[in-house]
Amino acid sequence: MSTARARIAPRHLLSLEELSAEEILSILDTAETFKEIQRRTIRKVPTLRGKTIVNLFYEASTRTRISFELAEKRLSADTVNFSKSGSSVAKGETLRDTARNLEAMAIDLLVVRHSEPGAAHYLARELHCPVVNAGDGAHEHPTQGLLDLLTMRDHRGRIEGLRVAIIGDIKHSRVARSNIWGLRKLGAEVTLCGPPTLIPMEVEALGVRVTHDLGDAIADADVIMALRLQHERMQGGYIPSLREYTERFGLTPARLESARPNPLIMHPGPVNRGVEISPDVVDGPYSVVMDQVTNGVAVRMAVIYLLCGGEAETETPH
Ligand code: CP
Repeated sequence: MSTARARIAPRHLLSLEELSAEEILSILDTAETFKEIQRRTIRKVPTLRGKTIVNLFYEASTRTRISFELAEKRLSADTVNFSKSGSSVAKGETLRDTARNLEAMAIDLLVVRHSEPGAAHYLARELHCPVVNAGDGAHEHPTQGLLDLLTMRDHRGRIEGLRVAIIGDIKHSRVARSNIWGLRKLGAEVTLCGPPTLIPMEVEALGVRVTHDLGDAIADADVIMALRLQHERMQGGYIPSLREYTERFGLTPARLESARPNPLIMHPGPVNRGVEISPDVVDGPYSVVMDQVTNGVAVRMAVIYLLCGGEAETETPH
């Protein structure tokens, strides 16, 4: 195999559903080249000098917001952060008006997180600059899906044929949806596990297996991804009690005894310690949760670079 360069990035990054396997792989391969910059003493390149990027966050975030900002700074772009609190949203300004006013200040790219599914697609239609979806409600979180794919590929050397179990609150999880699309496009086998109330019927149409038995889900899994129980998106009645949920679906050392040896343990964060995953597991020897966070910066550097006109790294057989 040798590396080649090609312009195959789409205009926006709104979902993994919309990307081809080739586009996903080109982003992962480009992210691979950006990892090296993070290992240097001076973690900065002049690639996007003179570009201006706005991070428009209507929802709370630690990992995504900071890693986008670090990615932008490491590429030498000028970055501006918008938070809903303290803005003119409090005076009733709409999402469209806010974004169009920011664009009128001559920006090159907009990153948006919003609680409404479709918010990023809406802005992509309304604006002239590229838009990156940093999470839209329970729809998608494409850069999280990409950093998860990169982490799996780093540790297992491939995505095709991997058996991936995603455990927990699938219904409210944009992370689950992006992972399902990305993993299926790259040829992984996906099993979803959680209470019936938290797994929507329609996900089976995406080519995944569904089980409500944690032991069954993890028995053959190469990768086990626990999802956060999203209290803030639940309006009543999805689970009988937290204690019962943890007993049936919480990842603990005892439950992992029925898994294959050395499973990769993942979690997108933030973690509800002792609910969907025990501290012993999230901090344990099989956990790659911090590698996910580290890879988030390289993936976001790759996405921003490609959307600002850079060329993708692609692996080509010779
Ligand atoms: N994984 C993730 O999206 O985390 P934040 O909400 O902290 O950005």
